[in-house]
Amino acid sequence: MDWIRGNTIGRGSSATVSVATSCQSGNIFAAKSVEFSQSEMLQREQVFLCTLRSPRIVEYMGYDITMENNKLMYNLMIEYAPAGMLNDAIRDQRGGLHESRIFQYTREIVQGLEYLHSSGVVHCDIKSRNILITESGAKIADFGCARWTNPKASAATPIAGTPMFMAPEVARGEEQGCPADIWALGCTIIEMATGMSPWPNVNSDPLSILYRIAYSGESPNFPEFLSTKAKDFLSKCLQTDPKSRWTAKQLINHPFIQEFELTQKQNQKSITNSPTSILDHGVWTFTEESESINSIVETKSASLSRRIRGLWLNSRAPNWEWEETWITVRENVESVKQDKNVTCTRMVGDDLELQSRCKF
Ligand code: ADE
Repeated sequence: MDWIRGNTIGRGSSATVSVATSCQSGNIFAAKSVEFSQSEMLQREQVFLCTLRSPRIVEYMGYDITMENNKLMYNLMIEYAPAGMLNDAIRDQRGGLHESRIFQYTREIVQGLEYLHSSGVVHCDIKSRNILITESGAKIADFGCARWTNPKASAATPIAGTPMFMAPEVARGEEQGCPADIWALGCTIIEMATGMSPWPNVNSDPLSILYRIAYSGESPNFPEFLSTKAKDFLSKCLQTDPKSRWTAKQLINHPFIQEFELTQKQNQKSITNSPTSILDHGVWTFTEESESINSIVETKSASLSRRIRGLWLNSRAPNWEWEETWITVRENVESVKQDKNVTCTRMVGDDLELQSRCKF
């Protein structure tokens, strides 16, 4: 497919995102691009995205390799979300989103997680920065840290994610399964409600956050002003014991989601049934409200505290403000390979396949 790259619309830990246009159809999409030699995360994302299909997951549109400014680039094409990411919406709203929007996005993210987990995929980096807001609602994006739930398939996958959103068992390097996504969802709800990090005082001492998550037995504080049902929902997400955390399937049936949904439907009904409703005049059209590092750590055999220190010290862009605070980190794949005696045949295989498809 021939296409033209437009403006840069985002920069993440794994790639730069540009708006792009197909020369054949004129359709607009987003191209996530990075130099081929550094495209491991983006290729991982492609492997996951091409198997997933759900209204709650960003749509995969293909990949290709281009030569730009004498550099070989790997490009992953996904749907373009004009409203951008959920963290943009939170930032624009300063002080947090209204509970009705928190409900809407929470419901949609839980639906996405339910689909992912029942498809055997753990996202591993849920946060507002990885949620796209489209005309049809919130969609989960950025699968660069994702892993399969199947223990065989995930054995070679290093622990990854964003420290501030890491579940205690992940921060301790024990496991990274579906419950870790649910913990991160709880943190994302706090982000939506407060417009701030789920852990206070992070600017002063970020390293202590990792220790605190791993060893304190604490959960982030719940925003006082949320409804009782929303707080109860949060308490189900932010259980420190992953076995006690609710699953996405259970959360879909939580009263916060169910009753809010019912109220919304009733409100909708009473508007459309009203004989004096403005909808009856046929002059109004309604559009849906829309809004848009890697690290080196040691493996399990190393001391946990050194491991956590590694997560922090080796993360790039350590600017502890707003979303720069919430960087994605990954275990050092090399050390995992060495320690677990894992070869990298899958990536080598993919590379060969990609190069044979390369037009240049
Ligand atoms: N930022 C990152 N990915 C995006 C996308 N697909 N659409 C719009 N903004 C984005």
